[in-house]
Amino acid sequence: MARGRFITFEGGEGTGKSTQVGRLVDRLKAAGIDVVRTREPGGSPGGEAIRALVVSGTSDRWSARTELLLMFAARSDHLERTIRPALAAGQWVVCDRFADSSRAYQGAAGGAAADFVEALDRHVVGEDQPDLTLVFDLPADIGLARALSRAGGETRFESKGLAFHDALRAGFRAIAEGHPDRCRLIDAAGPIEAVEARVWVAVEALLP
Ligand code: TMP
Repeated sequence: MARGRFITFEGGEGTGKSTQVGRLVDRLKAAGIDVVRTREPGGSPGGEAIRALVVSGTSDRWSARTELLLMFAARSDHLERTIRPALAAGQWVVCDRFADSSRAYQGAAGGAAADFVEALDRHVVGEDQPDLTLVFDLPADIGLARALSRAGGETRFESKGLAFHDALRAGFRAIAEGHPDRCRLIDAAGPIEAVEARVWVAVEALLP
């Protein structure tokens, strides 16, 4: 059984990532691929329980360091219970956020030490790095306005202020530049169909 492919979507708030995850999953299914859609934090019962702790409450509820450990605890469970079994069974996994969100939110914008993030990544993610990461890029003020208009109860990160979200965008752009083998920067501006086409160009290279 050939191992499945692992695709992650990354980017700041309100970049339209989740809509595009849905579009890509539909397209892959139409191409005959067995695909699992999942998300972080979350994606397994334990991961979702940890998600409830990190996405709600005041913006200073957790320090960046504690938040980082919670994200990697959720990630560890998600990998064990959902991602690794699916890839081993030959399924493709499309994940809405993954470890680059920890690099950008808790590291670049939050101030957690980069070497600590990388050490956790080595131990928790190890060899199971994404085959492809799509980094959605949009000016922070536009994304934040979109996100706040539909946030529901999960507003902890949205409420961190524009300076945080500017740092976040810069962090994601640096990640994409630093990992050109794995990452594609996706211009998230414009109509949904145009963004979908940009995503498909990047994913097509992985198709059998
Ligand atoms: P979502 O709104 O895209 O579902 O993501 C929930 C929030 O969790 C989002 O504001 C980003 C944040 N997050 C981190 O801060 N670090 C992480 O490692 C992950 C996966 C998400």
